[in-house]
Amino acid sequence: MAKKELTKKVTTHTLLNMKKNGEKIAMLTAYDYSMAGILDDAGIDVILVGDSAANVIHGYETTLPITLSQMISHASGVIRAVNRAMVVVDLPFGSYQGNSIVALESAIRIMKEAEAHAIKLEGGKEIVESVERIISAGIPVMGHLGLTPQSIYKFGTYTVRATKAAEARQVVSDSKALEKAGCYAIVLEKIPSQLGKLVTKSVKIPTIGIGAGKHTDGQVLVTHDMLGITKDFSPRFLRRYANLYDSMKNATRKYIRDIKSKDFPNNKEAY
Ligand code: KIV
Repeated sequence: MAKKELTKKVTTHTLLNMKKNGEKIAMLTAYDYSMAGILDDAGIDVILVGDSAANVIHGYETTLPITLSQMISHASGVIRAVNRAMVVVDLPFGSYQGNSIVALESAIRIMKEAEAHAIKLEGGKEIVESVERIISAGIPVMGHLGLTPQSIYKFGTYTVRATKAAEARQVVSDSKALEKAGCYAIVLEKIPSQLGKLVTKSVKIPTIGIGAGKHTDGQVLVTHDMLGITKDFSPRFLRRYANLYDSMKNATRKYIRDIKSKDFPNNKEAY
């Protein structure tokens, strides 16, 4: 029997039980087969094929330009590498805001063409109809509140959201609306720690924070930031666990040097 069939997979129920049992959820992004294989092998619970691929893979300044077809291409590589983790794929900007039928069609393409396990979309009350329609087709939905990067031109800045009472109240009521609509988890991005705590207590579904403090049920980071592959992005919430930018650059320099000095390949490395 294939290894894939033997592994106990992370599902929406697993995540709900983790919240109930106080076990924190670990989530990271991946956009390709090789990286997803490493994260899954390490035991990550959830892999997000985030539209942050627009930034870290395609080099765009915002997440807005990435297309649904590009997201599907990234996601299908990720899915082929994964045995255990739940794979969630972002619906990119423009693929769901039109109306709930457009949203469902986009979600179905991701599930069918990439064989993903769930989708994520950004927003609160304004996307409830889409969330309900997608879930009614049997597709699990993760919400995303706080700093929602697809709305960057509305916000005008990437600074922390919901520091004022009115916006904080909105985040709480949007969380409840997403839970009621059937979302199985919610990402909370760049909001005050105390608001992260309040939302986490206010809903039964897991909250997964990025810059939302320590009280959320789980944490997510962009893997390229966490591993130090990117080097110019240093928000307060980011903990770097490696400095792969320098490691990879030094290895590349050594490779170049070995070729130029005729050290590579040697006789053992030839046929
Ligand atoms: O696209 C992404 O990587 C995300 C995370 C920052 C949560 O949405």
